[in-house]
Amino acid sequence: MTYDKKYLVWALCYAVAGMGVGIFMGVSQDPAQHVTHAHILLVGFVTSLIYGVIHKLWLTDKMPRLAMAQFIVHHAGAVTMFVGLLLLFANVLPLAQLDPVLALASLTVTLGVVLMLVMVVKSNTLEA
Ligand code: HEM
Ligand code: HEM
Repeated sequence: MTYDKKYLVWALCYAVAGMGVGIFMGVSQDPAQHVTHAHILLVGFVTSLIYGVIHKLWLTDKMPRLAMAQFIVHHAGAVTMFVGLLLLFANVLPLAQLDPVLALASLTVTLGVVLMLVMVVKSNTLEA
């Protein structure tokens, strides 16, 4: 499967998960997980969808190792962030324990943006 398609599949999975949390909040009349919901949908669904579009439109160059590293970094950071936020706002674990995890997840998601930027800049198709 190409990276644009892989990103599309992951994006839609995040949409299902994020909307699931939204429906849970609506049904339970408890908005405690709204930050989790917002980030699963915006970092997960929207950002992954944009990465898929970038792959489809601009990254026709072959950079397989960088593309794989960027893909793993983005999803590892995103999933860690979402699980951390779910546990935090469900009061399963205290902020003191989750803070380093969320900090690492944030840096990892940001590294994913940097790696995508590197690929876009390195791509010869930019001038086309
Ligand atoms: C099945 C679809 C969805 C349901 C049932 C749903 C439900 C909710 C609920 C119950 C809240 C909390 C509102 C409150 O604080 O009282 C919320 C907040 C939010 N939702 Fe959704 N949502 C859905 C889809 C989406 C989508 C597709 C996005 C973005 C792509 C989104 C972005 C947000 C954001 C950013 C907030 C936080 C808003 C704020 O902090 O004021 N939601 N949603
Ligand atoms: C490294 C990645 C990110 C980190 C560390 C981060 C962190 C945060 C924090 C700390 C808040 C405040 C939460 C609170 O009110 O308690 C927040 C809110 C918010 N962020 Fe992010 N964010 C990130 C990425 C993004 C991205 C990529 C988007 C949109 C594309 C986004 C959209 C929002 C929105 C809409 C809110 C308000 C949500 C709400 O009140 O429920 N964030 N973010």
